[in-house]
Amino acid sequence: MSTVIRIFHITYSVLKILKNDFFAMKFIHLKRNASLLLIGFCSHAVAQDARPFTIPVESNNNAMVLQVDEKGQLSTIYFGKKLTHAAEYKLVPAAYKQTDDYSGVSNAAYSTAGTKNLFEPAIAVTHTDGNNSLDLRYVSHKVTPQGDDVSETTILLKDPVYAFEVTLHYKVYKASDVIEQWSVIRHQEKGNVTLQKFASANLYLKASRYWLKQYHGDWAKEMQPEEAPLTHGIKTLDTKLGTRANLFQPSVFMVSLDQRATEDEGSVLYGAMEWSGNFRIDLELDNLDNLRIIAGINNYASPYSLKTNTAFETPPFLYTFSTQGKGDASRKLQSWARNYKLLDGKGERLTLLNNWEATYFNFDESRLKGLLKDTKDLGVDLFLLDDGWFGNKYPRNADNAALGDWQENRKKLPNGIAALDSSAQQNGVKFGIWIEPEMVSPKSELYEKHPDWVLKQPGREEHYFRHQLVLDLSNPQVQDFVFHVVDSLFIKAPKLSYIKWDCNAVIYNAWSSFQKQQQSQFYVEYVRGLYKVLARIRAKYPLVPMMLCSGGGGRVDYNALQYFTEYWPSDNTDPLERIYIQWENSYFYPAIASANHVTDWGKQPIKFRVDVAMMGKLGFDIVVKDLKEAERKFCQEAIGNYNTWKDVIWHGNQYRLANPEEGSIAAIMYLDEKKSKGVVFNYLVKSRYDEGSKLPIRLKGLDAAKQYRLKEINLYPGTASPVPSEQVYSGEFLMRVGFNPQVNTTRTSVVLEINEAI
Ligand code: GLA
Repeated sequence: MSTVIRIFHITYSVLKILKNDFFAMKFIHLKRNASLLLIGFCSHAVAQDARPFTIPVESNNNAMVLQVDEKGQLSTIYFGKKLTHAAEYKLVPAAYKQTDDYSGVSNAAYSTAGTKNLFEPAIAVTHTDGNNSLDLRYVSHKVTPQGDDVSETTILLKDPVYAFEVTLHYKVYKASDVIEQWSVIRHQEKGNVTLQKFASANLYLKASRYWLKQYHGDWAKEMQPEEAPLTHGIKTLDTKLGTRANLFQPSVFMVSLDQRATEDEGSVLYGAMEWSGNFRIDLELDNLDNLRIIAGINNYASPYSLKTNTAFETPPFLYTFSTQGKGDASRKLQSWARNYKLLDGKGERLTLLNNWEATYFNFDESRLKGLLKDTKDLGVDLFLLDDGWFGNKYPRNADNAALGDWQENRKKLPNGIAALDSSAQQNGVKFGIWIEPEMVSPKSELYEKHPDWVLKQPGREEHYFRHQLVLDLSNPQVQDFVFHVVDSLFIKAPKLSYIKWDCNAVIYNAWSSFQKQQQSQFYVEYVRGLYKVLARIRAKYPLVPMMLCSGGGGRVDYNALQYFTEYWPSDNTDPLERIYIQWENSYFYPAIASANHVTDWGKQPIKFRVDVAMMGKLGFDIVVKDLKEAERKFCQEAIGNYNTWKDVIWHGNQYRLANPEEGSIAAIMYLDEKKSKGVVFNYLVKSRYDEGSKLPIRLKGLDAAKQYRLKEINLYPGTASPVPSEQVYSGEFLMRVGFNPQVNTTRTSVVLEINEAI
C-alpha cells in the first residue's frame, strides 16, 4: 500500500512543480480517495469503531448522521428521514457524484476558519499569539439519555496544535423530532483568545433545490412571509438591533427540500435561534449545490475575549424536520414547546381586560375601579393596568417621560397599586400590571441619578427610539434594579397575578460604561444579563403569568419563552391583519402562547374581532361601557364558549385548513388528542362581490371511522345558523369531501364546534 501512496505523492509533487494547481488539486483528491479505498481494503478486520465511523443523532422519525474519518474530521453525511438499517448510513456519501469537494471539509459538522475550510465558518478565533487558524478534530463523544423522550449527544473536538476545544451538544426530543443544538467553547491557552465568530450550529443539507421561507416586518406589520428558491452564495437572516431584536426580521425560518413544501406534503426544515438579542443565520449554497446553515449569536461588533479555562456556551439553535409538510412540522414544534419550553405550556391562562386602548394615559383610581367592574361584567378573569401609572417628578402622561421611575403616580393612584389589587379581589377578578423595566426616559429621575446605567455613546448626541433609551443590563447593579422593580410590585400588591413586560426601544449608540474596554462583549452580556434577571424572577415567582411584549412581536423566541407564558404578536389588532400575523406565528408558536386582544382596530364587527382573538389567549382592550347591548351579550356568550373550548385551543393539535394567502377564506382547526372534540374558525378575508366558501373546507386530523356533529357557536344575538347541527358525518367524509361553513359577505366569520357523535 505504501508504495502506491508514494507513487501518488511523487506525481502530485511533479504537478505542483509544474505549477499546475488545478490538476494538482484534482490529483490530491484522487490520492485521498485512493488512500481511503486502500485503507478500507486493508482494515476490514479491525474493531467496529475503527475510523471512519458514524454518530447517528436520531429522533423518532429523523436522523442526522455525523461521521468521524480517519483524520478525526467530523462531518455530516446524512440529514433526513431515518433509515431502517443504520448500517447503511455509511454508504450515503458514495451515492452522491457532485463536484469535487476540494477542501474535503465542506460538510464539516462545525466549520472552522483559517485552515482548510473555503466557506463561511461556524467558528473563527484569534489565538493568544495572534494566529487566526483553527482545526477541530474528534476526541470523544457520549450519548446521555434524559428520560424516555430526550437524549443528548455531546461530541468533544480539539485543535491538534492549540489548546482549544469545542463540545457540540445535540439535545434530541424524539417524539417531536426537535433538536436543540449548541456549542461550548473552551481553551487552555496562556491569555485570552478572541472569539471572532461562535455559532451554535452548522447544518449541511443535500437536495436538488432549496426553498427558503423567511419573515420580515416592522411595527404593526410583523411576520410578513417571503418564500423563494435559494440561489448560490450566502443568504443572511440577521438582526443588529440589540433589544426588540426581531422588529425587522425574526430568526424563525423554513427550508423546503427538493420542492416547495405545502401544508401536508414535502420535506421541510424549521429553524429558529433561541436568543433574544442579535442573531445571524447564514444559508450558504455552495459549489457542490449543498446547503450549509450556520446559526448563532450575531458576531457583528462582538469579538468575545475568552479567558483561559472558561466556557463560552452558545444559545441553542432549534430545528425540526418533517417529510409530511409544514403542518406536521409545526404541530411537532408546538407540541415540543408546550411540553418542554414555554413556561407553563401545559397549564392554564387568564382571559383579561386591558385598559391601554380604552384609556391610554388618561385614567385615575376611580376610572380604573370602574374598569374592574367592567372586567367582572364582561366575564374575563383579570384586569390589566397598562402604561401610565407611574412617575411623580416626571409623570407618565405621555410616552416621553418617567420610564425608570416605577413608583405610582400620586395624583392618578393616591392609594397605590395595593388599593387596585384589593379592589380587584373585592370584584372577584385578578389584577395585572404593565412594566417596561429595561428602559429609561431621558426625562426621569433614574436617568438623573444613574446616567452611567444608560446605554449611550460618551460625547455623542443621544438617539431615541419612542423617546427612550435602554438600560445597561450587562451591569449587575442594573440587573438588581430590574429585579427589584418586579419584586417590589409583588411586595406592594401580593395578589398581583399578571405582568405585561414591554420593550419598546432598540439599542442605538451601543456603549456600556460598565464594560469599559470590553465593549465588544456588550451585546452578548446584555442578553445574558436579561436572562439572569428573568431567572431570578422565576426562582421567586415561578408561575405568575407574564406577557412578552415588545411594542408588538419584536422579541418572541424560545429562550425568552422559558420565562414567559405568552407573547404579544403585534400592536396591530385589526382582526383581518391578525389573521395573517397569527397564521404565520402559528407555524412556530402554539396558540396558548399567543395573546390576542379584541380592540377597536379595523372595520370588522365585534363578532369577527372576538372570533379572531379566540384563536389563542383571549383578551379585550375596549371600552366595555360603549358596547351596545347586543354586542355586550355577544361578548359574554363568546367568553362562555371560549371557556368551554379553550382547553382544545390551548392544548390541542392545530391544523391549517384554508390559507388566507391563497384564497378568500382562512380556516384553522384545533382538535383534542382523542380526536373527539374540536373547533374550526373560518373567516372571509376578501370582501369582493359574491366571495364566500364556495367549496367545502376539508377538515384534517379526524378519525376517519368516527362519527361527528358540527355546530355553529358564537352566533350574534338575533341571528340563526344555516349549519345543520343534527347531521352526523363520518370523519372520512369531513376529511375527503369537507364541510361548508357557509362563509359569505353576510357571514364573515363562522366558528364551529366539532363533537364526536356517540
Ligand atoms: C407598547 C405595547 C402596547 C402598550 C404600549 C404602552 O406599544 O405594545 O400594547 O402597552 O406599549 O405604552
